[in-house]
Amino acid sequence: MFELNINGQIVHSETDKALLSFLRDDLKITSAKDGCSEGACGTCTVLVDGKAVKACVQKVSKFEGKRILTVEGLSGREREVYEYCFAEAGAVQCGFCIPGMVLCAKALLDVNDTPSVSEVKKAIRGNICRCTGYKKIEEAILMAGRFFRENLEIPKAQEELHMNERFHRPDVAKKVNGTGKYVDDLEFPDMLYAKAVRSKYPRARVDKIDISKALAHPDCVRILLQPDVPDNVIGHMKKDWDVMIPEGGITRYVGDCLALVAVSRKESLEEVVSLVEVDYTELTPVTTPQDALRGDAPLIHEDGNIMSKSTLVNGDVKAALASAKYVVTKKYKTPHQEHAFMEPECAIAVPDGEDGLVMYTGSQSVYDEQREIAMMLKIPKEKVHSHSMLVGGGFGGKEDMSVQHHAALMA
Ligand code: FES
Ligand code: FES
Repeated sequence: MFELNINGQIVHSETDKALLSFLRDDLKITSAKDGCSEGACGTCTVLVDGKAVKACVQKVSKFEGKRILTVEGLSGREREVYEYCFAEAGAVQCGFCIPGMVLCAKALLDVNDTPSVSEVKKAIRGNICRCTGYKKIEEAILMAGRFFRENLEIPKAQEELHMNERFHRPDVAKKVNGTGKYVDDLEFPDMLYAKAVRSKYPRARVDKIDISKALAHPDCVRILLQPDVPDNVIGHMKKDWDVMIPEGGITRYVGDCLALVAVSRKESLEEVVSLVEVDYTELTPVTTPQDALRGDAPLIHEDGNIMSKSTLVNGDVKAALASAKYVVTKKYKTPHQEHAFMEPECAIAVPDGEDGLVMYTGSQSVYDEQREIAMMLKIPKEKVHSHSMLVGGGFGGKEDMSVQHHAALMA
């Protein structure tokens, strides 16, 4: 048993788990976010005796006898100042990083209320924001310093909004004070936890999927395989994406799903997933568009390796080149760009009536999600209700289905 002081309350943890898991899962303090679980992003930041600490990597035993603070423990005045300054500076976009940033700001301003820009930068150096570019967060922290230092009153919010005037985004307060709900902050009675077993290889034949050991685990509730999917192919622009790859099928990328595992206790999910045994025959992958176009390239899809052809015609290019004073011929390449949003993808599906579903997701396009889930389950669209919770960044990367259809299938 471990005793901790969190936001001035004495609480106990039965097990020596990560502090973040204790805060979120046991105490339901969800302002501390889980962006990476490995000490890289800072969304889980809490203050420990006034210092910013990442709660995801260290166990509760480390924090006995220390004072832990989350944004829920800020004073009313502090909350008001941070809400106002972050709104006024335009420092809040998706908001997923913001409670962590606010705590870094407090750690700094409590000991130095006239910081320089470089001191502000240093205070938030362990925290990543993918939306704002940091400048506005720095401005918000400098502004908060001035409000505390000069004991300034918080200006009243405008009552009427007019075109061509600045105003605060309406969701800023809940993103600053941690009451805004992202999907992973929700909990439902008797909720199960599910995870996909994904292909180890970009291109391989799946020879055998053995789920017997995983099924024997006492916490395993259900394992689904491709034959359990009513319509196995989904896709936003083209229906070309297998929900699951069956035995005998060939994978197309390392993320392909081979099995879906649901358990009753979150803590045992990884263990049960690791008990699913897959035999593969590894095949040479196709890794570039150029390779995919070669005559002897293996077919990624039965209808070929070209998804669509587009021709862009604008003016008379030949004549323009022939009459140009200079002609520069060069090849330009751009790298693969990961969206790197801060909130990991997450979805909850709740059975609704006999054959309907209510989805809670961080998706960027709930209508596509509704359509594709209905198609996959072969149920009318009206039976699928998709609710978008706060979206912790996306930048286009949360348009496709990633986990939503899997949650729906399991529910
Ligand atoms: S640093 Fe803890 S969740 Fe990312
Ligand atoms: S506002 Fe910082 S990650 Fe989105």
